[in-house]
Amino acid sequence: MTSGNEIIPAPRAVEGPTRCGVLLDDSTVLWAAPGTGSTERWLRATLGAALGLPLPPGPAEARGGVRLLLDDTLEPESYRLSVIADRGVEIRGGDPAGVFWGAQTLRQLLGPEAFRRAPVRPGTRYGVPHQIIEDGPRFPWRGLLLDVARHFMPKEGVLRYLDLMAAHKLNVLHLHLTDDQGWRVEIERHPRLTEVGSWRSRTKFGHRASPLWDERPHGGFYTQDDIREIVAYAAERHITVVPEIDVPGHSQAAIAAYPELGNTDVVDTRSLSVWDTWGINPNVLAPTDNTLRFYEDVFEEILALFPSEFVHVGGDECPKEQWRDSPTAQARIRELGLAGEDGLQAWFVGHFDTWLAARGRRLIGWDEILEGGLADGAAVSSWRGYAGGIAAARAGHDVVMCPEQHVYLDHRQDGGAEEPVPIGYVRTLEDVYRFEPVPPGLTPEEAAHVLGAQANVWTEAMEDPARVDYQVFPRLAAFAEVAWSRLPAPERRDFAGFERRMVAHYERLDALGVGYRPPGGPKPWQKRPGVLGRPIEGTPPMR
Ligand code: ACM
Repeated sequence: MTSGNEIIPAPRAVEGPTRCGVLLDDSTVLWAAPGTGSTERWLRATLGAALGLPLPPGPAEARGGVRLLLDDTLEPESYRLSVIADRGVEIRGGDPAGVFWGAQTLRQLLGPEAFRRAPVRPGTRYGVPHQIIEDGPRFPWRGLLLDVARHFMPKEGVLRYLDLMAAHKLNVLHLHLTDDQGWRVEIERHPRLTEVGSWRSRTKFGHRASPLWDERPHGGFYTQDDIREIVAYAAERHITVVPEIDVPGHSQAAIAAYPELGNTDVVDTRSLSVWDTWGINPNVLAPTDNTLRFYEDVFEEILALFPSEFVHVGGDECPKEQWRDSPTAQARIRELGLAGEDGLQAWFVGHFDTWLAARGRRLIGWDEILEGGLADGAAVSSWRGYAGGIAAARAGHDVVMCPEQHVYLDHRQDGGAEEPVPIGYVRTLEDVYRFEPVPPGLTPEEAAHVLGAQANVWTEAMEDPARVDYQVFPRLAAFAEVAWSRLPAPERRDFAGFERRMVAHYERLDALGVGYRPPGGPKPWQKRPGVLGRPIEGTPPMR
């Protein structure tokens, strides 16, 4: 039997457990109060499949049953899970999400078999020790970014990641839908974005300085119905999907589809194709009215698909050379009285800031967007360390902390030459566990602008789901604990205790079929054969 002391992310308080417990079997009934329907459906579907517990509806007072209810004395997303002799299992949530997170804890208490898709021991009775767990999140934004642009993740993979996020009480999926190497969302008014922009003919293998190519075409995109399905699947799990359309840099796939979006007075944009290698691309959007109208069309369709309050507009890594050389861009700078090319970038992002605000949404972008001043409601994803986040919080903007030094999960997990995806710098499981989203030096008022934290998964070197799993796990478990639990200051965190608790969690991940990096390093089959993917001597890391 699993106790609350082995839950990941760690709950706030556990009373008990005792050696006795409540037994759940195929006669156990489920009573769900109004407002708890998503958890009722999830418990029946998940525990029904995994353990053969059908959880038929039954009265609230049934002995030994499962009860779900709302309790307005609890905070949003918080829950109280009680396992008490005779009374059974009760989950009270401060809101429907709180009940759902409580159900995630119940699943962990039922043992690793609860993470399978069919019973391996049909007819078993499953014990849950008597205990009371009080729990709730530290941050309202507990995010994971999936870069589905560099390597496409088919819809099925995204749905699976939503389930993995739910199991770790993460609640924001940031979908990086567009980049130089691919456009991944159907836009009805501009069909070439996916007809042309979603496929590339070949792909650089490994580091951008590598001489190796994968000569197979790579691509794919989500139809609007796929997106509706992803968003609804996420919502049922109390996860918000934040879409990212990256402008004005990272846009070569869009320019390959519609060459007039690029700086046609500087380069022959008709000769551009979807980019097949990595790095920072000089082919950025032209700062013209035509480009603004085009992207307004795109964002209109994005708003119709994604109910998220926040819409991410990228804004990172936009080289200014083409604007410097473009008479059109220079004329725009003069006409608007802007401070050079940096002012042009600020004007471009500012346009969509105002445009989104007028539609009741809030812009969020990478920390480069701070450089030109922002509308009041805009928020910042702080990725180049903490500095952008600190400056944003001090200026009264909300911040999501995702510094590459801690939570870029594309970065290698060990300093040896054995990692199959050997890019970036070394970010160990312990580095992630000791990540502190609120930097020292902020006043309490400024710190309140830190909405939370996000782990970012850039997929240049992750061409299939197995590589994604390897990079994401087990580090996402450590990240979840940072974002959910109230851990002490980084240097006082009990990493050895976390590793001990991970023993039970690896069994859950095994039952889920997650291809995590095993403790101690990659297994032979996880290593890259030969030189493929290894950094080329003397070149900088990928990022
Ligand atoms: C980023 O990593 N360019 C946001």
